[in-house]
Amino acid sequence: MYIVFNTSKVAFEQVGQGPHLVLLHGFCEDSTMWADFVPLLSKKYSILTIDLSGFGQSDLLPVSSIAAMADAVNAVLEHLSIRQCILVGHSMGGYVGLSFAERYRQKLLGLGLFHSHPYADSPEKIVNRQKTIRFIERHGIAPFAGQFVRNLFAPAFVKEHPVFIDELIHKTSMHHSDAVIAASHAMINREDKSTVLTTMDCPVLFIVGKQDNAISLENSLKQLSLAPTGSVHIFEDIGHMGMFEAPTYTLEIIVDFMDFCHECNAPISLLSSQH
Ligand code: MLT
Repeated sequence: MYIVFNTSKVAFEQVGQGPHLVLLHGFCEDSTMWADFVPLLSKKYSILTIDLSGFGQSDLLPVSSIAAMADAVNAVLEHLSIRQCILVGHSMGGYVGLSFAERYRQKLLGLGLFHSHPYADSPEKIVNRQKTIRFIERHGIAPFAGQFVRNLFAPAFVKEHPVFIDELIHKTSMHHSDAVIAASHAMINREDKSTVLTTMDCPVLFIVGKQDNAISLENSLKQLSLAPTGSVHIFEDIGHMGMFEAPTYTLEIIVDFMDFCHECNAPISLLSSQH
């Protein structure tokens, strides 16, 4: 399904019933990355997956910013009359989640940062993104996709799952150059959102992979003390793709987080009657 927001098509899918969980994909991904999670999570929750600007079935938004992506997420929620949700964002999806938290705080019951963080790009990261943009402008996505995808995973996973990695490289190479370039600019221009975390009045989930090459371990760890109420999970052996590298554990973590957020929001009388 889709809505039209700011003249662009924003594609989404809603499955299941119960408390609302929004899952946002990261850079060079689309909502199908959650395909293995949705059937399991939707037994208990209403799962909303959204294709961010230019990825999957969504058009590129007229404005290339993380805030515009957060506004598009809000437009889908409005369309579906969803007043409150828990939002889990993978990497760039987490940047969108933080921007959503800043703009629509009262709508969030919990925020999951799945291999993500609140900091702005370092000067070095900006230079690397600019190189990527120039490379894609000249050569397209296909020659970029192989190294990009392999780099997202811990080396042992790449070695043990060659077919899966090749399929993901193929899928990645199908994204539109315009979307990848626009998302790169959006990430370059995003501002530090640390204060969003420090002033968060709902629980925050952090999933960290110690072998993550896309997000520095320094940033992943530095953020952990920022949120007043946090649930922290650090994996020794995974990289940037916990939903594929450790699917059972990360799914369980999301389920526990959903339950925790709802307990935090339950009226006192309901909480005490459960003991
Ligand atoms: C992502 O997976 O969304 C990106 O690695 C995020 C980033 O490059 O900062």
